[in-house]
Amino acid sequence: MELIQDVSRPPLVSVKGIPLIKYFAECIERLKDLQVWPDDVLISTYPKSGTTWVSEILDMIYQGGDQEKCQRGPIYTRVPFLEFKAPGILSGMETLKQIPAPRLIKTHLPLLLLPQALLDRKVKIIYMARNAKDVAVSYFNFYKMAKVHPDPGAWEDFLEKFMTGQVCYGSWYQHVQEWWELRKRQPVLYLFYEDMKKNPKREIQKITEFVGRPLPEDIIDRIVQQTSFKKMQENPMTNYTTAPTEVMDHSISPFMRKGITGDWKNTFTVAQNERFDADYEKKMADSDLHFHTDL
Ligand code: A3P
Repeated sequence: MELIQDVSRPPLVSVKGIPLIKYFAECIERLKDLQVWPDDVLISTYPKSGTTWVSEILDMIYQGGDQEKCQRGPIYTRVPFLEFKAPGILSGMETLKQIPAPRLIKTHLPLLLLPQALLDRKVKIIYMARNAKDVAVSYFNFYKMAKVHPDPGAWEDFLEKFMTGQVCYGSWYQHVQEWWELRKRQPVLYLFYEDMKKNPKREIQKITEFVGRPLPEDIIDRIVQQTSFKKMQENPMTNYTTAPTEVMDHSISPFMRKGITGDWKNTFTVAQNERFDADYEKKMADSDLHFHTDL
């Protein structure tokens, strides 16, 4: 019990100016030892952008739509989380050593902290972005339940931190823009959570083409069904209920929370929304990247 209290909610630690969960910060240095294989595929996202969703879709594609095979372990063992480390749990690097090629690897790192070998070896990258308002609300709820984060405080304060990049992994604005630019020089498939909600079949087809694993239409339809929010919410191999309670407490807020676009409207006040929009315009002014905050 004492041990749990000791490891719970440590303050974020800055690595090259990027705030990170303390345990993750401790293992960044070791990531340079990553052995990159030519058929590795990297799944990159800013947190709360649908990482688990796109990870499950990819594993299902790799398993040819075979649901049984996708039950072989929790998502974090099938798609290792590169920079993950927490007390008493296998780290991402350790998990990676245990899985055979072809590997799917998850990261939330900004480019500044990404192991260079992944770029040098030109691994295929699937980036999933989600609109900032829904990310902020999802992140606030996640901070509350995932106790490796500091206490988020009141929503008002958390939103301020989100807007100024003082949350784990730093600025959303910087993250979505730099990976958007990266597609000009690396093999990046840039996807949007909102598009996936609207037309999952079309987006899944895009992924199969990008990773060079075409599938018959009935299998794609099965993947669409199996990766619906409801299915993934009920599935212990995707809903994170297998994670220790000290790390994720679903009684505070479930990991599979709502899975919709536009939920931000239930949390943002009118004044917060106006302030957020004005600030957003400034931060995104130089970018041709556009998001939908409604479906
Ligand atoms: P909400 O908190 O808004 O519900 P990540 O996997 O990057 O941590 O993102 C988690 C968010 O994606 C959560 O958002 C979660 O509910 C949502 N999500 C997970 N699986 C989903 C699915 N199959 N369809 C839609 N949303 C999903």
